[in-house]
Amino acid sequence: MALVILAHPTYDKSFANKTIMEALQNSKLDLEIRDIHALYPDYKIDVQAEQAALLRHQTIVFQYPFYWYSMPAILKQWFDVVLTHQFAYGSEGDKLKGKNFVPSFTVGSSKESYTTLGFQHFRVYEFCKHLEQTAYHTQMNYIDPIYTYGSSLAAGYQEAEIKKEAQQHAAKLIAAIKELEI
Ligand SMILES: Cc1cc2nc3c(=O)[nH]c(=O)nc-3n(C[C@H](O)[C@H](O)[C@H](O)COP(=O)(O)O)c2cc1C
Repeated sequence: MALVILAHPTYDKSFANKTIMEALQNSKLDLEIRDIHALYPDYKIDVQAEQAALLRHQTIVFQYPFYWYSMPAILKQWFDVVLTHQFAYGSEGDKLKGKNFVPSFTVGSSKESYTTLGFQHFRVYEFCKHLEQTAYHTQMNYIDPIYTYGSSLAAGYQEAEIKKEAQQHAAKLIAAIKELEI
């Protein structure tokens, strides 16, 4: 059983993340899904409830759209308040030790844009260093992020293409969770 922290501030308008979440829900995986924006629309996160959820699982998936080369504010807030001293780090803060940290996100722009000569310049993995170090600092196992390019309807990508990519993304994520849960 894995925990999915879903962080999307406008999930009602989501297409890519919704497609991924629907595939996860239709999979046979036993998942606990926490839609943190729906749970905490005022950003007042229940730290104890979130830490208790973390303790119940060995694999933690973070599902979100890529925002400003990082994550939506609600997820940053979640990290800020849930990963506390002596829980997630510090001399006695080993509660997350050995758990799997799985970033899973949708990227608005194209793959070509995330190249040195592309308009986003850097490769997506270069924007993920903070995730990797967060995992190490909390003694978690960092799993290579799963992400999908060209997921923005606003940028002109078509629903059919986004759907196909998002379904492939979900299949990769489901396979990764299964492998980790063995
Ligand atoms: C506030 C905001 C910031 C965004 N920042 C980025 C970004 O830095 N890079 C990028 O490629 N796309 C960016 N996008 C596009 C989203 O990543 C894209 O629309 C989303 O992943 C699509 O998923 P959804 O259909 O589930 O919303 C941004 C979108 C918004 C609304």
